Amino acid sequence: MQKLLFSIGIIAVCCLSSIVDAKCPCNDPNDCNRITTDWKTNQTIGYLLESNETIWSTFKWNKLTIISLIDFHQPKLMCLAHHNKIRIMAFGNFTLNDLSSSDKMNKWIEYRLKEAQDNFYDGINLFIDDPVEPNSTFSQRITDFISLTTKRFHQELPGSIVLFNAPFSPKNEKGKGVDGKNYDYVAISKSVDLMVAMEFDQRSQSFDEPKCLAGAPESLYITIGSLMAYKNIGVNLNRMIMALGFYVDEYLCVEYHQNYRCIIESYNYRGANCSSKVANRIPWNVFEKIDRQCWREVWDEHSNHDIYTFLDNSIYGQVKQYWTDNLGIFKKIRLINENQMSGIGVWMLNYLDDKTWFQLPQRQQQA
Ligand SMILES: *[C@@H]1O[C@H](CO)[C@@H](O)[C@H](O)[C@H]1NC(C)=O
Ligand SMILES: *[C@@H]1O[C@H](CO)[C@@H](O)[C@H](O)[C@H]1NC(C)=O
Ligand SMILES: *[C@@H]1O[C@H](CO)[C@@H](O)[C@H](O)[C@H]1NC(C)=O
Ligand SMILES: *[C@@H]1O[C@H](CO)[C@@H](O)[C@H](O)[C@H]1NC(C)=O
Ligand SMILES: *[C@@H]1O[C@H](CO)[C@@H](O)[C@H](O)[C@H]1NC(C)=O
Repeated sequence: MQKLLFSIGIIAVCCLSSIVDAKCPCNDPNDCNRITTDWKTNQTIGYLLESNETIWSTFKWNKLTIISLIDFHQPKLMCLAHHNKIRIMAFGNFTLNDLSSSDKMNKWIEYRLKEAQDNFYDGINLFIDDPVEPNSTFSQRITDFISLTTKRFHQELPGSIVLFNAPFSPKNEKGKGVDGKNYDYVAISKSVDLMVAMEFDQRSQSFDEPKCLAGAPESLYITIGSLMAYKNIGVNLNRMIMALGFYVDEYLCVEYHQNYRCIIESYNYRGANCSSKVANRIPWNVFEKIDRQCWREVWDEHSNHDIYTFLDNSIYGQVKQYWTDNLGIFKKIRLINENQMSGIGVWMLNYLDDKTWFQLPQRQQQA
């Protein structure tokens, strides 16, 4: 019995000692310090998929202020980011399953805190994609969990910041939460440091009648309406970042009509009969390299998008249609400035080319 108690004591000691600082992997130990510059204004957050120096060497460091890592860690990249005075953090996605008990919630938070500590991160970027009913127990639980996570990060990692990624609008055109995500966006926006409105993927739920249509993933006017919707429910746009998608939606038209009407297959997504989930996502820098000489190009004033249409003879004369917002970035930046939002987001840094990097605003002096 005594032996057993003793070993429990050892376990406790070992767990405490694991909180002891990780070893700094940077050449300059100062690069392991958290960045403490202002985060409230003029931010550019870049989302990044697993990648290596080949891509990082193309980054314009003076155009970024935060990097959010999607499912990977790279000590070298942390050193590089900090050396350039850029915050870096993990994209911390969670599900309702992580919230099924307070024990699970605490485990998730402790895991992410340790991850941030071990990797010298400057905070965490929260995200959830599960549908919940309005004012439901789970909706409340999401709010509480985000608030608790924020409190714990601020406590344990002084100076760290917590971000939350929200959909393009609090409501879809049917007045319900986008993608069934009936979260309490006002309460969430008040508890985190910054909320990121993902102003792309605006057609994940489409309510076209009678047939499904290809359409714009980041319509300028839907974006304007969505900002108004957030403002109307009481979200402070000064603490909101507008993230844009740097990809092109490729649709296969099952029927093709005059005026560039491309009918697409129907797809049920969370209560909608049509969805852009049927589209192929082509990164902007890949699309740019495609030879489009024989494609028909038309400007869609209604969404502020370019529509490219072409007959693909390699697949039995099928028509394909592409919707892009490549010229829209300046108008979106103007919207961000007019509404005194905290900045812009890039979904994903992996999708940029030199021309698009050039369009992003400069954020700091060259290091
Ligand atoms: C933010 O950027 C704008 C436009 O580039 C600039 O005028 C302003 O001074 C900046 N604000 C801060 C707080 O740096
Ligand atoms: C970096 O990643 C690319 C794929 O994105 C790969 O082709 C290349 O070999 C990698 N380079 C190194 C040095 O690992
Ligand atoms: C989110 O989490 C799941 C499981 O933890 C993981 O498989 C997935 O790739 C994550 N990332 C994103 C961007 O959803
Ligand atoms: C749900 O909560 C919102 C505030 O978050 C409130 O405006 C609304 O009236 C509530 N709806 C119901 C059905 O209780
Ligand atoms: C989806 O299609 C079904 C069958 O055509 C129809 O009854 C239903 O109202 C449609 N739902 C929406 C949200 O449009």
